[in-house]
Amino acid sequence: MKDSLGAYNIADLREMARRRLPKGVFEFVDRGTEDEVALRNNRTAFERIKLKPRVLADVSRRSQATTLFGKKQDMPIMIAPTGTAGLLWYDGEVGMAKAAAAAGVPFTVATNSMTSMETIAERAGGRLWFQLYMWSDRSLSHKLVERARGVGFEALIVTVDGAVSSNREYNHRNGFEVPIRFNARNVIDVMKKPGWLAAVFLRQLLTKGMPRFENYPPEIMATIVDKTFKKSILKNDSLNWEDIKALRKIWPGPLLVKGILHPDDAALAAEHGADGVIISNHGGRNLDSSMAPIEVLPEVVDRVGGRTTVIVDSGFRRGSDVVKALALGANAVGIGRATLFGTAAAGEPGAVRAIAILREEIDRIMGLTGASSIDQLNRDILHVAALGDDTGGRSPAGFEQRRLAQTA
Ligand SMILES: Cc1cc2nc3c(=O)[nH]c(=O)nc-3n(C[C@H](O)[C@H](O)[C@H](O)COP(=O)(O)O)c2cc1C
Repeated sequence: MKDSLGAYNIADLREMARRRLPKGVFEFVDRGTEDEVALRNNRTAFERIKLKPRVLADVSRRSQATTLFGKKQDMPIMIAPTGTAGLLWYDGEVGMAKAAAAAGVPFTVATNSMTSMETIAERAGGRLWFQLYMWSDRSLSHKLVERARGVGFEALIVTVDGAVSSNREYNHRNGFEVPIRFNARNVIDVMKKPGWLAAVFLRQLLTKGMPRFENYPPEIMATIVDKTFKKSILKNDSLNWEDIKALRKIWPGPLLVKGILHPDDAALAAEHGADGVIISNHGGRNLDSSMAPIEVLPEVVDRVGGRTTVIVDSGFRRGSDVVKALALGANAVGIGRATLFGTAAAGEPGAVRAIAILREEIDRIMGLTGASSIDQLNRDILHVAALGDDTGGRSPAGFEQRRLAQTA
C-alpha cells in the first residue's frame, strides 16, 4: 500500500534517497566495492530461490512474531549497524533507532555512529545492540565494550569482515573518504542538493559542529574532516579467534560475530563462545565476488543452527527475501540499506515506513505460501534449482556436485 510518503516499496525509498542526497553520500550508502559482483549477486541470489506455496491452509491468524535471545519481538528482523545515518538526515541515527523501538525490533548502534551510544539509548530506548570494530589497540576496544555494557546494551556484535580496508573506487572519485577533503567535485555535488545542505549538513554544523565519530574514545576522537584522523589506529588485520575469546570474558550478554560466510568459521565462532553469527558480506561492500549470504545460509544452519542463533543480512529488500531466509533456517534477518534509504528519504517516518513495508510484505508472503507462523516456514516451500551455482548446473562446481552425486 502506498503511504503519504508515496513509497510502495523499498526501491521507491531508495529513489527518494537518491534524489535528496549529494551523489557522494548516496553512492557511499548504495554501492558496493570494485566491480560490484557481490552487490549484484546479493539480489540475484534471491531470484534463484523460488517459492513452492501450500494452499488451503487457513492462514487467517498469521503472526510473524519470533524470539531472539529470549525476548519476543513482533517481526523477524533486526536493524544492522550502519555508521552514517546521521549524514543522511539530521539526527538520523536517533530517528532510525526510534523507528526500530516502535516496531519492537533490535537496533544496532555502530562503533562508527555519528551519534553517541548514550544519546541513542537516552532518546530512543528500545532494544539496543552494540556493534564493535576492534582497533589494533585492544585495550581501547575493551574500554568501549565496557562503556556499552554500562549503558545497558543487550547484545554485542563484533564485525570481522574488514581485516583490511575495502576498495570503494567511487568514494575516491566522489571525494567521499574520511578524512573528507573538499574539492570542486564534492562541493558542486553538495551545492546541487540545497535541501540536504540546509536541513542536514548546515543544521548539524550549527547545532553540533562537524560530524564526529561520537563513540570513539578521546585518544582517537576525530571529525570526518580532521587531517589528524589516525587511520593506522583503525587497522585491525591482526584480529583473530583469541579476540573473540577475550570479548566473551568481558561481555556477559549475547555475543554475535558478524561477517561470517564460511560454515567452518560459524562453527569456530560457536566454539569460541559466540551465541550467534551474522552471515553477511557487508552488503557487498567489502570483498567483491564474495558469495551471497543467502547462498551459504543452509550450510551454516546445518552446521551450527539450533545451538547458535543464525542471523543473515545483505541484499534484503522484499518481504519474500526475508521469508526465504527464514525458510532456510535463519532465526532473523538483518536490515541495512532498506532503513537507511527510508531515513534518507524522510527521517524517522521514512525508517518507520521501510519497516512497515517489510512487515506488510512478510505478512503477505506468509499468507500466500500457507504459513501462519514463523515456525511453519521451512525448506519444503522452497524450490532451489541450483543454489550457489549461477549457471544452472553447468559450472565446474555444479558439474562436480553432479559427478559426486552420480558416484555416491
Ligand atoms: C552505509 C553503510 C554503513 C555500514 N556501516 C557498518 C558498520 O559500521 N559496521 C558494520 O558491521 N556493518 C556496517 N554496514 C553493513 C551492514 O551492517 C549490513 O551488513 C549491510 O548493510 C547489509 O546489507 P544491505 O544493506 O543490503 O541490507 C554498513 C552498511 C552500509 C550500507
